Amino acid sequence: MLEVRELSKSFGGLKAVDHASLDVRQGEIVGLIGPNGAGKTTLFAAIAGFHAPDAGRVAFEGKDITGWPPHRICSAGMVRTFQITQPFAKISVRENIMVGAYFRTADRKRAEREAEAVAGMVGMAGQLDQMGADLTVAGRKRLELARALATSPRLLLLDEVMAGLNPTEITEIVAVIRAIRDSGVTILLIEHVMQAVTSLAERVYVLNQGRMIADGTPAAIAENPEVVEAYLGHGAAKVLRA
Ligand SMILES: Nc1ncnc2c1ncn2[C@@H]1O[C@H](COP(=O)(O)OP(=O)(O)O)[C@@H](O)[C@H]1O
Ligand SMILES: [Mg+2]
Repeated sequence: MLEVRELSKSFGGLKAVDHASLDVRQGEIVGLIGPNGAGKTTLFAAIAGFHAPDAGRVAFEGKDITGWPPHRICSAGMVRTFQITQPFAKISVRENIMVGAYFRTADRKRAEREAEAVAGMVGMAGQLDQMGADLTVAGRKRLELARALATSPRLLLLDEVMAGLNPTEITEIVAVIRAIRDSGVTILLIEHVMQAVTSLAERVYVLNQGRMIADGTPAAIAENPEVVEAYLGHGAAKVLRA
């Protein structure tokens, strides 16, 4: 469904993403992990059209979408969420979600119905009239998810939607993400909460200093010495094995 090949993106002299490749098949939940600053968000931005890649290719459902602008990629059926959530503060949750729904329809009533359906899916049915500014961190994360979902994507890229949540909230959002997948939306997610990745993702990719260093099942990844080193520092895998 998604094929990323040898994608690169530099900022000045810094190679934030360095020849990274990955695949997502329809119906999967795929995880993307890696230490802070590894280039995960930059890779998402380059896939979703927010950064023009310096090199490499992105194909979605067989179409080459490399260099397309975000709105065109969104229309094609792929959308990302933002790690730093920015809900419109002075409008309601309903209206915030409608911004996403207007991507598919110009009809206000339809956008409203769509927003309400999506709110139900992410557990915000009771907060539709709350102002964006009044949401907690967990509420903002759900709203970010809802806005993306309201564009009716077939592939959803989630950037750390669990960051800043407490264990109960994480359990809830894990269930929401699973329900979204079961409704027919394929998911690629960046996540720091390892337990959540392990329970959600069938396959995991590991990015380190812009390079894809491993991929496989969560269990195989957890035992991969290169991955352990990337997280814990040079020599860690050897020490842990000893
Ligand atoms: N717009 C930007 N301009 C310059 N440097 C950036 C920009 N965005 C990210 N970077 C740098 O690129 C590297 C990768 O960042 P990022 O993709 O946000 O990593 P991650 O999401 O894995 O934590 C970091 O060193 C970061 O400082
Ligand atoms: Mg990031």
